[in-house]
Amino acid sequence: MTQVHTTPTLQVENVSIRFGGVQALIDVSFSVTTGDFVGLIGPNGAGKTTLLKIIAGVLRPDTGRVLLDGEDVTKLATAARVKRGLAVTHQIVRPFRSMTVLDNTALAAGHRVTSNPLGALFHLARKREDDHARTLLARVGLGGTEDKPVSALPLGQLKRLEVARALAVDPRLLILDEPLAGLNHKEAATQADTVAALNGEGVTTILIEHNLGEVLRVCRRLLVLDGGRIIANGEPKAVMADKTVREAYIGKAGDDAAA
Ligand SMILES: Nc1ncnc2c1ncn2[C@@H]1O[C@H](COP(=O)(O)OP(=O)(O)O)[C@@H](O)[C@H]1O
Ligand SMILES: [Mg+2]
Repeated sequence: MTQVHTTPTLQVENVSIRFGGVQALIDVSFSVTTGDFVGLIGPNGAGKTTLLKIIAGVLRPDTGRVLLDGEDVTKLATAARVKRGLAVTHQIVRPFRSMTVLDNTALAAGHRVTSNPLGALFHLARKREDDHARTLLARVGLGGTEDKPVSALPLGQLKRLEVARALAVDPRLLILDEPLAGLNHKEAATQADTVAALNGEGVTTILIEHNLGEVLRVCRRLLVLDGGRIIANGEPKAVMADKTVREAYIGKAGDDAAA
């Protein structure tokens, strides 16, 4: 047999996008192998969320391609990419606030089988979806909150709900946009542990995060964006030791000495 298993889960090829006068991404290329755990870091405005949106099909790149398991999905809608195993969590959490935690999670599962999840919520085998949702909520540490309205959850729990909602589609590739933002030290560590456990079960993971301590603790590879370009891609220690990375990202404080 040929090496089918070596096809990367995700390939981003020469992706560029401009918003008016802002060149948000410039010729971005990288690939993520199956099972990998990549930390995507970079200063605010570097283009991280834009890159996630292009991978998810929320935005179309001006040039370049996105491939999932070797298939060009650049022109496919988000739902079609979800069917191929992609799930994302968003930097800005936007759950259906008046619904319960359980309904929110079960609703997300509907995306797996239909592009009309709200309809699916009422027509699918509801019991099965609910059971699945309960399992997912327990996984992210939200057991016991099933019947609460989402509006009653503090940020730490909303961020976990985002992960449960993403898991509802049973993803093979999970991309999380700042899932630790706004969490205290302990909550951030717990959430990072949850993501690491998912990766340990084989979910290929890209973690977009500013919390460098947690990124370095859990990720196996680092990708650094700055000003829309990839400036480093590799083993975390080597990337963090890289002079360009230090100057662009970490070393802003270091500039004081030079000034
Ligand atoms: N919809 C948009 N319209 C105009 N400019 C945008 C839009 N989305 C992002 N940008 C700009 O693109 C750049 C990258 O933004 P973003 O991807 O959100 O960065 P990050 O997530 O790394 O903080 C920023 O300069 C931002 O202002
Ligand atoms: Mg962002």
